[in-house]
Amino acid sequence: MSDAPYLSLEKLTLAYGDTVAVANLDLPIRKGELVALLGPSGCGKTTTMRAIAGLLPVKSGHVRLDGADITRVPANKRAVGLVFQSYALFPHLSVYENVAFGLKLKGMRGTGLDAKVRSGLTSVGLSSFANRKPAELSGGQQQRVALARSMVMEPKVLLLDEPLSNLDARLRLEMRTELQRVQKETGVTMIFVTHDQAEALALADRIVVMKNGKIEQIGSPEDIYNRPTSSFVADFVGFENIFPIEQGKMKTSSGLIDLSGPAPSAAGLAWRPRMVTLGSGPFRGTVRGTSFAGDSREYLLDTPFGPIKAEVEASQPAHALGSDLSFDLPAEKAAPLSRFA
Ligand SMILES: Nc1ncnc2c1ncn2[C@@H]1O[C@H](COP(=O)(O)OP(=O)(O)OP(=O)(O)O)[C@@H](O)[C@H]1O
Ligand SMILES: [Mg+2]
Repeated sequence: MSDAPYLSLEKLTLAYGDTVAVANLDLPIRKGELVALLGPSGCGKTTTMRAIAGLLPVKSGHVRLDGADITRVPANKRAVGLVFQSYALFPHLSVYENVAFGLKLKGMRGTGLDAKVRSGLTSVGLSSFANRKPAELSGGQQQRVALARSMVMEPKVLLLDEPLSNLDARLRLEMRTELQRVQKETGVTMIFVTHDQAEALALADRIVVMKNGKIEQIGSPEDIYNRPTSSFVADFVGFENIFPIEQGKMKTSSGLIDLSGPAPSAAGLAWRPRMVTLGSGPFRGTVRGTSFAGDSREYLLDTPFGPIKAEVEASQPAHALGSDLSFDLPAEKAAPLSRFA
């Protein structure tokens, strides 16, 4: 993996008519990287992918790939592969013919073509399914045909837009591993769209969190999970207790609250439920809800400064609904946020 960007989006602005969907987006991607675009519905993920693929004209800014400015290059000349959420295989063609389709369009024939298609099918574990029709395959197998169909074209960049969203939970996990394996084996640069944070964390080398057509944070899975920089990202990755900080104090519905320890300098602090201390501390709350999650138990507390979620190991004694408990929000455990909202 070299450090110079292989694909770069530079000040990219994309619009549908007068409505700007993506604004001034800068994103350099290294060769061989697996990048996940993560964000809520409507934040501009598909729009960004369509622009990289050449399916949406760029309003302003540039797309560069492998040293060339491809901003105005037509889609079929870009060497960018695309696998969509609905992967639309040709229903009347066999698995083999589906995978061969694009190669034939490029003029490939004979043993060269056959070898490519066979190796594509082998790489996704479908060599014995070559003669089946798409309707005779499971969702996961169809997905793998779509992946093979794109991979045999040897794209410089492979774009996957929610490719796993049609699959059930177990198949999703299998396909995740499969995607990661194919990507590491072939070294293809991959951008992967998802609104499932677990999927992004599990797969990506780097995660780009988007909000309202802008990049909110870029980082490694560890960065995004442990060190969100804004309340938006913190909320998105499961920090359920998030408060702004003013004058070194926590701002709540019942005023500014002193936290234990030195006054934090951040704009906000965020605690995952398991970062909350339950059973001791300066604050008090009433148990309003409790849920058992196997290894752990989660409590919803009613407190003077709003609802607080705390999680403790299930081996600890359970607290009944209505119990009055002390708790703490230890500042040193919280993720400091530099931007609030
Ligand atoms: N063809 C279109 N015409 C007009 N507006 C569009 C069109 N496609 C998308 N938009 C708008 O552009 C914005 C970004 O849409 P986009 O499809 O990129 O979101 P997304 O992040 O892929 O969301 P999702 O997770 O729901 O797929 C949204 O506000 C959407 O309503
Ligand atoms: Mg989308």
